[in-house]
Amino acid sequence: MGKKFYITTAIDYTNGAPHIGHAYEKILADTMARYMRLAGHDVYFLCGLDQHGQKVQLSAEKAGVSPEAFVRAISDQFIALWKRLDVQPDGWVETTDPRHKQVVQDMLQQLFDEGQIYRRSMRGWYSVRQEQFLSDKDREPDGSWGSQWGLVEEREEENYYFRLSDHTTWLRQHLESHPDMVFPPNRQTQLLNALREGDGVDLCISRPKSRLTWGIPLPFDDDYVTFVWFDALTNYASFAGFRDRAPESSGLPKWEDLWPCDAHIIGKDILIPAHGIYWPIMLHACGLPDDQIPKILVHGWWNMKGRKVSKSEKIEDDSGPKLIPDLVDPHAIADVVGTDGLRYFLLSDIATGGDSDISEERILVRYNKDLADILGNLLNRSLNMARKYLGSTLIAASHDSDLHHALRTTVTQLPKAARDHMKTWQIHLVLAAIIDAARQANEFIDKTAPFKLAKDPANADAVASIMRHVAESLAHFSILLSPVMPTTARRMQSQLGWTPPDGLTLDQLHWGLLPDGHQLGEPQPLFPKVLPPPAAS
Ligand code: MSP
Repeated sequence: MGKKFYITTAIDYTNGAPHIGHAYEKILADTMARYMRLAGHDVYFLCGLDQHGQKVQLSAEKAGVSPEAFVRAISDQFIALWKRLDVQPDGWVETTDPRHKQVVQDMLQQLFDEGQIYRRSMRGWYSVRQEQFLSDKDREPDGSWGSQWGLVEEREEENYYFRLSDHTTWLRQHLESHPDMVFPPNRQTQLLNALREGDGVDLCISRPKSRLTWGIPLPFDDDYVTFVWFDALTNYASFAGFRDRAPESSGLPKWEDLWPCDAHIIGKDILIPAHGIYWPIMLHACGLPDDQIPKILVHGWWNMKGRKVSKSEKIEDDSGPKLIPDLVDPHAIADVVGTDGLRYFLLSDIATGGDSDISEERILVRYNKDLADILGNLLNRSLNMARKYLGSTLIAASHDSDLHHALRTTVTQLPKAARDHMKTWQIHLVLAAIIDAARQANEFIDKTAPFKLAKDPANADAVASIMRHVAESLAHFSILLSPVMPTTARRMQSQLGWTPPDGLTLDQLHWGLLPDGHQLGEPQPLFPKVLPPPAAS
């Protein structure tokens, strides 16, 4: 068997409930995984949670519970959300998993034994309230420390450092000889520029246990835990069977079948330095050859009024009455437009790599116009007419015209359009092409007017041919939309009375999916209209 297409996402911090930015990334990854399966690939999709760290330790203390109990409760909220949103990973990461700990410690021990990790003392400004060292970037414009830091004092601390700077020349050369390591290309350029600036700096990888206990202990010094990135980034390997000592029983995939990762899906805030510099260098330093350095896909942000959506920063929307009380909360949006309405919005209203602004108005426009008026309406009116004029049976028909030909051409070209756009993961363009084709199918009905033709039995062949064309188009749409809206696709197929063959791939789509004599099912509204709230008087 060939290598699986391995997709994974940034693991989300468990110091707060999931928000719409997390949901976007996971839905993007889930859709890419489903699309690659449809394209005939064997896919493995991994995602999960980043459970250690100072913030979690502090939040747990504040809540008066153990860090274990704190992360369990938040982790369960993520799990429930992914279930509701049809995000279906093949593997699930939780960084408190003992196998992960073992791989992290294994890598650290190797690097320590090889002299790639060393201990040194650092003097700097320390915020007692925030329990962290500060840098000049944290100063106010007048050079003072802001009140958020509380008491700031000069301190000296011993820590462990990874010799990152030994490998930056290698990384620069690697990026130059692998121009497709980071997508989109402008992010690769940005990374190369950042590498030039940050040369010569090693990475502090530890925190003394006096400051942070909620982490993975350093295998060579029990007074320290490893800090953030050595723990978090390693998940991509440790849950992919890397150095798995019990490969048969572990339930992990086989490393050889999976690695290297074909797409680490991350937001633009964690490319530099974490995924673009630390991660490839960590792998290279542990001895992985160049052809096993993974690829990174960088997406943009969902913003509100131009500012990044996050749980901590409330952005007030006072532009009138609202149906969706909190746009940051994926549940609140799904309550109004459903899981597929949310999935469709998040993937149709942003170009992969770019940013977009979320608003209730945009969500409702996408839902009511594209899904209710165009797609839902097409299915509903087609099935109603087929029932009325043909007793819901598709029969062989020969009537043809330029309009029929144009619709057939549009629909049969969709798989190629999907393949082309998905080369650069531009899902919004795939969706636009499908919705445009559905719009054309609606116009085809309006222009060929089967409701008029059906009045005269002499037009039976023409009516049958029109119904055939729209039903066939709908069968194609259901397959092509299935990576983005899996439940809608199944509902469309059930109403069409059609079960696609198991493992049907994009290549196998052809005009004639529904055979002569095919019996269509009963129409049921797919996307009931959602009316915007009346404007405040
Ligand atoms: N735990 C780290 C990642 C470790 S990966 C080894 C982290 N967590 S996070 O919860 O802050 O963010 C998780 C992912 O969500 C990141 O890829 C981040 O870019 C993405 N998003 C968070 N807010 C976002 C938006 N408003 N819009 C789109 N995605 C953004 O970073």
